[in-house]
Parts: sequence; C-alpha cells; structure tokens
Amino acid sequence: MHSRIAPKELLSTLCVSIRGFRRGDCVRCWLFFNRDIAPDVPEAPEVLRFAETAKALDIELLVLKPGEFDLVVDSKDGWSAIYQGRELRKPDLIIPRCGAETNYFTLAVLRHFEHQGVAIANGPAAVESVADKLHTLQVLAGAGLPVPKTILGKFPVDVGLVERVLGFPVVVKKLKGTRGAGVMLCQDRAQFDDLANLLDGASGADFLFQQYVRASHGRDVRVLVIDGKAVAAMERRSSDGGFKSNISLGGHGTLYDPPQEMAELAVRVARELKLDIAGVDILFDQNGYRVCEANSAPGFQGLERACAVDVPQIIFRAMAKRFGIPLRHSDRWERSIENAARAAFGAGAGVQTETAKPLLRPAPIRRKSKPA
Ligand SMILES: Nc1ncnc2c1ncn2[C@@H]1O[C@H](COP(=O)(O)OP(=O)(O)O)[C@@H](O)[C@H]1O
Ligand SMILES: [Mg+2]
Repeated sequence: MHSRIAPKELLSTLCVSIRGFRRGDCVRCWLFFNRDIAPDVPEAPEVLRFAETAKALDIELLVLKPGEFDLVVDSKDGWSAIYQGRELRKPDLIIPRCGAETNYFTLAVLRHFEHQGVAIANGPAAVESVADKLHTLQVLAGAGLPVPKTILGKFPVDVGLVERVLGFPVVVKKLKGTRGAGVMLCQDRAQFDDLANLLDGASGADFLFQQYVRASHGRDVRVLVIDGKAVAAMERRSSDGGFKSNISLGGHGTLYDPPQEMAELAVRVARELKLDIAGVDILFDQNGYRVCEANSAPGFQGLERACAVDVPQIIFRAMAKRFGIPLRHSDRWERSIENAARAAFGAGAGVQTETAKPLLRPAPIRRKSKPA
C-alpha cells in the first residue's frame, strides 16, 4: 500500500537520499587555533575564511583552543570532550591550524580525538613531524627525496665541520619557526663564528645549520597539496633582494604552473609526511629541486590572491570525500551562485547549477599523481 506523500515532502526526501544528507542535522567541524581571532594575529584571516566557507557549505564550524579542553582518558567506552567545562558533541572532522605552535598539550588533545574515531586533517603524527624542521628533513631524506644538507646545532659549534660539510654562506634557522622569522644567512666564517658564540649563550631554542641553495636566492615555490593532489602553486619572490621569499616578509606571489616533476615531488612530500593538507616549499637547485619545508597549517592569503582559488572550499570538499562526510551547499549559497551566474551569463543561466560551476573557481592544477 502506498502512503500518501505531499510533492514537497517527496522532493525533500529525494534530496536527502540523493545527497546522503542527515536531515535535521548538519556536518560538524572543529578548527583548532591557539590564539584569539584578533586583527594583530597574522593567521586569523585564514580562520575567518574557513568560517565563511563553512557557512556557505552548511558546516557547523567551532573554532576551539586546544588548551581549553580537559582531557579525561578512561577505559570506559563513550564519547568524552570537555571544553571550557562543557561537554561537546562529537564532530565529523577536526582541522588543526596550530602549525609550528603545536605543543604537547595540543598533540595530546588531537590523539584523544583520533582514538575516539574522529577524522582529523592533518593527524597528530603528521602535525608533529612537520612542526620540527629536522624531523621533516629526516623523513624526506630517508625516503630518498632531495633536501638541503642540514646539521642540528650543537654547542659549542664545530665551525670546521660546518665549513667542511655546508660551506659558506650558510643558512641558520630555528628548529621550529614560521613566517620567515628566525631564518638568516651567514655570509662567511667570521660572521658564523660570531653568531655561533651568540647562540651558545642563548638558552632554550634549537637551531639548524643548512646548506644555502644559492640558485633559489629570494625565490621558491609554494605548492598546496590536498589529499594527495597538487591543487595550486605560486612562485614567491622576495621584494627586497633578501634570500627569504615569504609572503609575510613582503615577498610577491604569482600563479605558477609547476613542471610535472615538481608537482610530483610535492605530492611525494605530502605522502611521506602523511599530510592530508600540506604547503610544500620547494627550492630551485642547479639541477633540480630541494624541499625546504612542509607546513601542516599553511597560510593561504597570498596563494588565494595569486591563484584565484578558494582554499577552505577545496579543503572541505576534499576532506568530505576522503572521510565520507556528506556536504551540501546552503540555500543562501545556491541563491548567490544563481545570481552571480545570471549576472555573468544573462537571464536563465542561474536555473542550471551546471552553468554556475565555472564561478566556483577551480584550482589551476589538476594533475594526477603517479604512485612512486
Ligand atoms: N637552505 C636554503 N637555501 C636558500 N634559501 C632558503 C633556504 N632555507 C630557507 N630559504 C628561504 O627562506 C625562506 C624561509 O625559510 P623556511 O625554512 O621556509 O622558514 P619558515 O618556516 O619561517 O617559512 C624560504 O621560503 C626560502 O625562501
Ligand atoms: Mg617556509
């Protein structure tokens, strides 16, 4: 016997089953960020971009400080998430955006949720290995990928060893640094001697001494790799003649179409480091490339400008596919796409979603990576 369903209900039932969407519920995502969202926090605009895109995709996004969880590890089954004294519901996805500032507590919080079966992009092991630049290079060198020769600083410094192995000029960088701060070039032995003495007196931080990749002076490529695909790349050039090309230091980013070899290298880097989301920095060497570093929470304001891509959208969509999380556009988003399509293609264009697709700003690189 057929039950009577009103056409409107039928339509919504169909939409629910076609999209696999849980009615009355929405996708829940947590974004971990250690700082306040304030104008003087350089990574805050990225968090706001995630929030904006989440809204458009009907994702309930909570921006949480990992340090404000209370971790209770118990052998009893069941969900446990206590945040600022309140119990939170289980999310579908966690995106950590703490980057180089990831501390032990944050890793412990990530592991807590990983063990409770939450999808995390990137997972704690991957985040931990790239927060330490030497660990990154150890993994990559172990996989046979090209990296600059690097020495872990030990004090007093064996200047002779540094000269023999790396030569001068030499790059000196903090083990855990970001945005180009704590990276410098020492021109000669005398300058390095002075710096080594200075660092010897300073306590706490760890340093790396690294081969200066001369051919890449003031120029490198940032490749964004998401779920094993190179989705966008930009060439960065310093604007002051210095050797660092970071956008945060005034570097200039332009859209870059990487050669196959470079795109494959970036994909390999992400895979070796088990990063679902990776900003891979690649230096130009005389006969190829060297991997400078990989970022688990890459800044993307410069990349979005240079490549005209919507990074949070690519991330949400790729992670939804990867972890089987159903996503849909909100009605508001559908309407704004329709209006934009009408404005661009004339009346009637907005009625077909397919017509509106070009406005979703696809990423420029669509290469398939070959298995290594
Ligand atoms: N070994 C190197 N040789 C040449 N340039 C380098 C080298 N290491 C770093 N650089 C330059 O300095 C920039 C910052 O270094 P990086 O290690 O990526 O630090 P951060 O994590 O602060 O961005 C790089 O983007 C690159 O332009
Ligand atoms: Mg960098």
